[in-house]
Amino acid sequence: MKSPRPDDHVIILFGATGDLARRKLLPGLFHLAKAGLMPQNYQIVGSAPAQFALSDDDFRKHAKDAVREFGSSKPAGAAWDAFASALHFGAADPKDPGPLVAAVQAAEKEIGGKARRIFHLAVPPGAFGSVVGMLGDSGLAENARVIIEKPFGTDLASAQALNKQVHAVFDESQVFRIDHFLGKESVDNILALRFANGFLEPIWHRDHISHVQIDVPETIGIEGRAAFFEGTGTFRDMIVTHLFQVLGFVAMEPPTSLNAKSLRDEKQKVFEAMQPLDVAHVVRGQYRGFRAEPGVSPKSQTETFAALRVQVDNWRWAGVPFYLRTGKSLGERRQTITVTLKGPTLRMFPVDTRASRDGWGNQLVIDFDDPGWIATRFLAKEPGPAMRLGEAEMTFRYADSFLRAHGLEGYERLILDAMLGDQSLFTRSDGIERLWEISAPLLENPPPVELYSPGSWGPDSIRRLIAPHRWYLPDGH
Ligand code: BG6
Repeated sequence: MKSPRPDDHVIILFGATGDLARRKLLPGLFHLAKAGLMPQNYQIVGSAPAQFALSDDDFRKHAKDAVREFGSSKPAGAAWDAFASALHFGAADPKDPGPLVAAVQAAEKEIGGKARRIFHLAVPPGAFGSVVGMLGDSGLAENARVIIEKPFGTDLASAQALNKQVHAVFDESQVFRIDHFLGKESVDNILALRFANGFLEPIWHRDHISHVQIDVPETIGIEGRAAFFEGTGTFRDMIVTHLFQVLGFVAMEPPTSLNAKSLRDEKQKVFEAMQPLDVAHVVRGQYRGFRAEPGVSPKSQTETFAALRVQVDNWRWAGVPFYLRTGKSLGERRQTITVTLKGPTLRMFPVDTRASRDGWGNQLVIDFDDPGWIATRFLAKEPGPAMRLGEAEMTFRYADSFLRAHGLEGYERLILDAMLGDQSLFTRSDGIERLWEISAPLLENPPPVELYSPGSWGPDSIRRLIAPHRWYLPDGH
């Protein structure tokens, strides 16, 4: 099927000299261009406060270095020349958007006809409100859409205030709150796996599922992002943003269609059914050495790790705990959902000590890190005269079944969707507000951080948190 092509666009990148633009956005836009998925006519205007202003040529050089270092397509040949010629720079400060307005007007003239504007706010969360205000005041918000980074607010009150500021300038249909996990191919595949097949849905509920784990350990530390991280912490950076969204896909009821309204309505119902967090079922951790990182307070109570139990009180999930874990400086980088099934009603096979191990041979494992895989772990008879059970595994890997490995990275897919006006994989205002609402007990009364060793799997108390079950990772316990 031919991919739809967005209307002509001027793409305005706030934070164009920042880390996200360098690692993801500029390489991603070039990859979209090379893949023939950009609009027929487009211009890209980088923006930053006046003290970081670049000339067009310097911005092109900056983009080229970024694509060379982080891109999947190298910046060379006619494709690069065409892309580079579409790059411009226009500085903007809330009080002086002049250079940006001029650059956007020039870009529109270059395109001719009616181009749509899309703003990507890759700026620190504290600046979202002032940038949106400037877009309104300067008239730039006309005929525009806006992609807003995360975290969207730091609690319910700030998210509500920010939604108010955004809605004063943009209609909700123009707002794209981005969560790049939802652009990952294998997260999207959860929908296909659950709803395009007939075999999973009949067992996808409390009668057959014992518990669910969503586990995103990272090996990296804070990578020099102390200024952002000290004020944010893992719970806001990863759980509210990414892991709760993945939970929404795992737990939602079948939507009536894949359109944005149906999908987001079903996700919202899951969020409504999520119970306010119980701090007794939350572990906040901090890796040893974090307080010595440049820019971090020696007394910091910021968590670099969070593990928690979430309860989804609806008919499908009552009594099925969801365990979430993520943190920096852990033993392995993984992005894994583990669905542990209940055992069979009758155990007629000889007792095996391994059978007491939680979830022994009864798990569906979805690894959603690129390129992603899905495995079912089940019990089979070990060859030999005795009826002895052994654990077996069936694994799906993208490359084994599909010719083309992953086309687009999360950010690329989502920027394309935003240009096409498809909000399905973006967070809605009521969704984000509900997630902050259920987080309130933890934000208001956070337990002290527990230290853990870099390279471990978090503080020891996470075992108690999940008991009588066990963490699936590291694989097979
Ligand atoms: C970002 C967080 O949103 O996601 C980072 O701010 C985190 O702290 C990153 O490392 C993980 O994303 P990815 O693409 O590596 O899965």
